[in-house]
Formats: sequence, structure tokens, C-alpha cells
Amino acid sequence: MKAQLIAEGIYCLHADIHTDDLFEGIWPIPKGVSLNAYIVKGEKTALIDLVRDWTGAPVQLADCLSSIGLSFSNIDYLILNHLEPDHTGWLREFRERNPRAEILATRKGCSLIKSFYKIENGLRPVKDGDTLDLGAGRVLGFFEAPNVHWPETMVTWDPSSGVLFTCDAFGSFGALGDRVFDDEFGQDEHAFFEEECLRYYANIVSSFSAFVEKAVQKTADLPIKCVAPSHGIVWRRDPKTIIDRYLKYASWAKGPAEKSIAVIWGSMYGNTGIGVNAVIRGIEREGLPYTKRRIPDENISWVLMDAYKSSALVLAMPTYEYAMFPPMSYVLDIFRRKHIYGKKVLRIGSWGWVGGAKKDYEAAIANLKWESIESCEWPGFPAEEDIKALEKRGAELARMVKG
Ligand code: FEO
Repeated sequence: MKAQLIAEGIYCLHADIHTDDLFEGIWPIPKGVSLNAYIVKGEKTALIDLVRDWTGAPVQLADCLSSIGLSFSNIDYLILNHLEPDHTGWLREFRERNPRAEILATRKGCSLIKSFYKIENGLRPVKDGDTLDLGAGRVLGFFEAPNVHWPETMVTWDPSSGVLFTCDAFGSFGALGDRVFDDEFGQDEHAFFEEECLRYYANIVSSFSAFVEKAVQKTADLPIKCVAPSHGIVWRRDPKTIIDRYLKYASWAKGPAEKSIAVIWGSMYGNTGIGVNAVIRGIEREGLPYTKRRIPDENISWVLMDAYKSSALVLAMPTYEYAMFPPMSYVLDIFRRKHIYGKKVLRIGSWGWVGGAKKDYEAAIANLKWESIESCEWPGFPAEEDIKALEKRGAELARMVKG
């Protein structure tokens, strides 16, 4: 892998991760993920963000450095915008190779460096408005951006080139290969990264949407020419595309999203599945787009993505041992954690010996600010009148979304 020139003295280094490991131990990355770091050169040299030792990422980074005649020992300053270990896991090894580099992070970031990596010396806490003079007219600035993605996060700004280094903000899943810039990818590739960006946002960032909006407001007056995140595409041709995309995603945490319905369903012996098909016939009658994911067969990462982008949900589950079908309990727990708020929702399901899902479900959604339409439950196999009611409910939900 070679370093990619962004502007004079500024390079993107990146490591592509291809693994069956889960990102954060939860989220699958079947198409990989990139870990981006950046070199900024004045008279002194700064490295912005690092990697974890994951599928050879430190070697990939070393190769990038070598392609521009550098090694880890040449780094004067290591700037850590964010301390999550995907960007810092290799910090102790870096320190062994380079004991003299000063490490810059927010005050909370420095505290995490001490607790995660037991590094006490050579730390410089920075705060909003602080700068780092690299010489030769290059002075970097820092803006704290708490909770994008963790409380210690900041972004780094280079006014001389207009590059904003944003770490997790404006990132996506998906490995980059040997290209990194937005103008190097075709339409199909952008469609792929857009979906991986949405999945990344829903999985990683959605809980912090209010902080995304604050961070964008804070940097709104900067003449940004390039957005350089630490996952995914580097936006040098059209940085506004990714900023606007993130603002759109952030707005979905407050209420209406796309005019579509996410159908999420589980079934033990097929009776709830028959009900789902009836609801879908009603949705199709109204011509509204929908997605359909079966749980637990399909991974929560994509279930969450579909739910986040849709204005309405159909949640279909049987009663299981006097309560909800357990995979749906897990889905609702994740929805609560990830702020799947403001949805229009229809719940349906079959019960066998006795009901129980209703009470369990209502307790689980109590704080989700959902607008629920009348639910539909039936014993065992759905009767003719149940099927008609389910079709009607599907159409009703679709009409509510259409407005
Ligand atoms: Fe890419 Fe929150 O770390």
C-alpha cells in the first residue's frame, strides 16, 4: 500500500481490514473496513491517528510511510483524535519504536491513554482552539467533538490546505483497496459505500446524532476543502456530500426518515410468517417500498440499518414462553440503545397456548417515542378474518407513512 497525496505535505495512509472478526465485537464487516491515518508535514512531522494490530494493519501503515521515505521513528507528533482501540490499539508498540514523539489528545483522551496503554509521559492535552505549529507555516488547530464517537473525541484542522481530519465522523464500513478519494470511485462503488456508510452510521454513530449535529455546527464556518475520516473514503472533490449525508442521518434519530417500512419478523412454526405476508400485501397495495429481515437468521447490523432509515416498522413475533420471541427482545434492546425513535409501528404475532408477547413488548418500547397503530394477534394459524385485518393494517401503516 502506498501513501496517497492529499495536498502538499499531507498524505493519507490506510490499512484495509478483511476479517471474520466483528467490528467492536458486534458488527460484521464482510466487505472489510479501512483504518485511515494521515501524515502532515511542516518542518516537523505529525501522524494523525493510528491503527490496532488487526490483520497486519501496522505493517500496512509502515509500508505507506515507507513509500514517502518515512518510518514510525520519524514522527514528531502523534495526534489521537479518538481513543477507541481501532485507532490506538498499536500505541504501546508505536511508543517502543518512537519514545520521543509527543502524543496529543484531549484531556479525556490523555486520561484514556494512561488507563488503556499505561503511557504516562510525553502527553500533551489539547482543548478547543489550541494549535500545534509544525513549522514552515503549517499550524494545526483542534476542535473538541465530544461523543463523535466517544466523549474524548476531537477533530484536527489544517487551515493551510483546508483538510479536516475527522476520525469516526463521516466514516463508513467497506475496505478501500488502492484508491481513497471520492473522485476515484464510480457510481456503483459510491452506491456500495453509501450503503456501508448508512450501516456504519446506524451501528456505530446513531446514538450520538445530536453530537454529530453539534460537531458540524462547530466546524460550519471552516473553509473545508477535504474531509479526511479515519474509516472510508477521503472526500476531496465534494466534501459537502458526506457532511450533508451525515446531517440527514442525524435528523432521522428525531423522527421521520425515508418513506419506507422495515418489516422485521421471526416465526417458530410459520404462523406469524403467514401474517407477515398478509401485512406485506397491504403495504404493496399502497405502493410503498419496504425491506424484510427475518430474525435471528439475519444479523442485527442490517436489521438496525433498515430500521434506522425507515419511517415505519412492522414487528412480527410469536409469543414464546409467555413473553416475546427472544430474538425480538434483543432487537428492541438494540433499538433502545441506538435511538430508533419516532417510528410508526405495527406489531403482529401468533400465540399458541397463551399470549404474553404484548405485555413484554409494551414494556420494552416504553421510551422509544413510537406511534403505534392497533396491533394484531391471533391464536395459532391465522383465520380468514385475521388475514383480512392484517392486510388492512399493512395498508393503513403504508398510508400513514405516505402522509
Ligand atoms: Fe473507529 Fe470509535 O472508532
